[in-house]
Amino acid sequence: MKKILALFVGLVLFTNSLKADEGMWLPQLLGEQVYADMVKKGLKLTKEQLYSINKASMKDAIIIFGGGCTGEIVSKEGLVFTNHHCGYGAIAAASTVEHNYLDDGFWAKTKNEEIYAKGVPAKFLMRIEDVSEKVNEKLKGLPKEEVPVKLNGIMNEISKKAIEGMNANFTEARVASFFKDNQFLLFVYEVYKDVRLVGTPPQSIGKFGGDTDNWEWPRHTGDFSIFRVYMSKDGKPADYNADNVPFKPTYFLPVSIKGLKDGDYTMIYGYPGGTSRYETSYGVKIKTDIENPTLVDLRDMRLKYMLEEMKKDTKIKLQLASSYAQIANYWKFFDGESKQLLKYKVYEQKQQNEKDFTTWAKGKPDYENIFTAIEKTYVEWTPYAKHRMFIREGILASPLLSFASNLMALDAAYKKPGVKPEEIATLCKQLKTACDRFIDDENIASDRNILASVIQMFYNQVDAGQLPKAEYDRIKSKYGDLSKTETYKALANDVFTNTVFLSKDKAAAFFDKPDTAALHKDPAYLLASAFLNNYSNNYMKYFTEFTNKNTILNRAYLKGYMEMNKGKIFYPDANFTMRVSYGAVKSYSPKDAVKYSHVCTLKGMMDKYKPGDYEFDLPKKQLDLVAAKDYGQYKDVALNDIVVGFITTNDITGGNSGSPVINGKGELVGLAFDGNYEALSHKITFDKDLNRTICLDVRYMSVSYTHLRAHETKANLVC
Ligand code: ARG
Repeated sequence: MKKILALFVGLVLFTNSLKADEGMWLPQLLGEQVYADMVKKGLKLTKEQLYSINKASMKDAIIIFGGGCTGEIVSKEGLVFTNHHCGYGAIAAASTVEHNYLDDGFWAKTKNEEIYAKGVPAKFLMRIEDVSEKVNEKLKGLPKEEVPVKLNGIMNEISKKAIEGMNANFTEARVASFFKDNQFLLFVYEVYKDVRLVGTPPQSIGKFGGDTDNWEWPRHTGDFSIFRVYMSKDGKPADYNADNVPFKPTYFLPVSIKGLKDGDYTMIYGYPGGTSRYETSYGVKIKTDIENPTLVDLRDMRLKYMLEEMKKDTKIKLQLASSYAQIANYWKFFDGESKQLLKYKVYEQKQQNEKDFTTWAKGKPDYENIFTAIEKTYVEWTPYAKHRMFIREGILASPLLSFASNLMALDAAYKKPGVKPEEIATLCKQLKTACDRFIDDENIASDRNILASVIQMFYNQVDAGQLPKAEYDRIKSKYGDLSKTETYKALANDVFTNTVFLSKDKAAAFFDKPDTAALHKDPAYLLASAFLNNYSNNYMKYFTEFTNKNTILNRAYLKGYMEMNKGKIFYPDANFTMRVSYGAVKSYSPKDAVKYSHVCTLKGMMDKYKPGDYEFDLPKKQLDLVAAKDYGQYKDVALNDIVVGFITTNDITGGNSGSPVINGKGELVGLAFDGNYEALSHKITFDKDLNRTICLDVRYMSVSYTHLRAHETKANLVC
């Protein structure tokens, strides 16, 4: 342990400046790692204003919004800004065909009208503690191979202990691993569960440009939504209760409508979800060769069938919209990621780094054979990689098969010697709730097509030797020739007609009197369990071996890599813990002879406008706004227009969505909501020339907000 600590202290002492705007920095280390550089680039605040453990500081205004986004507090009454795509699920859930807030927008005129967003908590970071020593103490003496097996348990145990005696309903602790298990930090959060929808633009603004413009600049999306955090009357985090009162923050971000110029300093606080900047060449290759293309193929198919149904009926559109948007988002991402990784020869660059490392490591027994060993793990695992993707993105991507896979727990419980009837009853109760939820969200028509295609694509694309042979024999004898699409359609029809898990009544009858014989006859269960058992009994062990070996090897590699680069400042990979990135507003050149401006405007939005289009239509009010040009204080005087979006060099990734873009004085000037296509390889490598964060200008948000709700009230934006 001491060695590791010494290594990190060393890194801090010998830091030299990392020139590009690369880096997702831990807020508590800003002061010692990059503060001087931030000031050089335009920051006007003190270290304590950025992060302090004793006083209110900027970090207190930043929240985890829902499951995977960032939000920020912008008023003394707990108002939260985040992206429209982050509020999307809550907005869709609050919508009905009669009150379609997704299509028409929603603005609460008074606090009483704000709509409770169930299942969208706001989490505030309370403290951070380095628990590396505690973790390493527990790992001491364990054989190397045992480390990956025990690590999660140890981390969970420390997390649990950290909040012992606290109200478990409203406190959360998580130990996160840094630098590939070379450092461990504990994060403790306070969880506020009463969060309410205050306002959202119609999705024709909030999602303007749809999937065509997603991950692209120039971008004219008004990607914002507004919520409010509530607390109990005595000032504590609470479940929803009509009597709750608006949250009183220790700090909230002031908003500036002064705008930014090309070159101005920007910083972004938030929760980047995950990067793999220390990925090996082998990891890059398996991604571009197998993982990404398989995922993209399967998602292409799923999206096609979902859209087909969504276009038929508003109710179905509302039902599938959120899930469709999520699938589409990373479908385009992974397709673009592969293209950029190949274009910029990231595999070859990584190979060169690894050669340099191996040369440095000669004669150092801890490090010299690392890459021979890593290569071996990939050679052993690669034959099964496609199969695993087909399970994750195929079998488990059909909502029915995914639900049916949960029933395997019931089968397993029955097989457990001495199982108590109470255990079965509890499990059945949970499964019944899950089944009801699944049925509410289920769109049979699209799922039936998806299921048929998945089973056919599985047959055509997964190595013949790895197929669940008995299941395909059964399909062949019951439904016909395995090379024909009709066979799979007949299978899907049978499954959807005869499973009991698509009817709440039939499912309730089953869960009231569960019976293994009936379960084993259910066609959805039969199909799901055949594929999942085949994978877990025969192939999952290779994946476990592969990840365990790589965990050990990568831990050693990164330790060695840091030793080799002593004096260089390192930032850890993103892992959904709070980070700060700093950079500047900057135009760029995406290709020869083309230059992209640092801002885009309402004029550009109107150029893209296509009446009646699925992605580029606009609401009448927005057209009126542009026609009247009544932009007031929000107009950019030099451009004589509204700035809709701008781009910066900040280093962010998914999870940062909704993050505040903050100027040198600590004021919110925009919301980060996307990355650009030319740098979609950013999870693996940061391109210092091309990487851009796409941000919504707060002046566009303000003008939309005030204009769209002008007929209702003259309330200020920040209330
Ligand atoms: N690409 C954005 C992100 O991951 C999400 C944008 C959502 N919009 C969409 N058309 N799917 O943060």
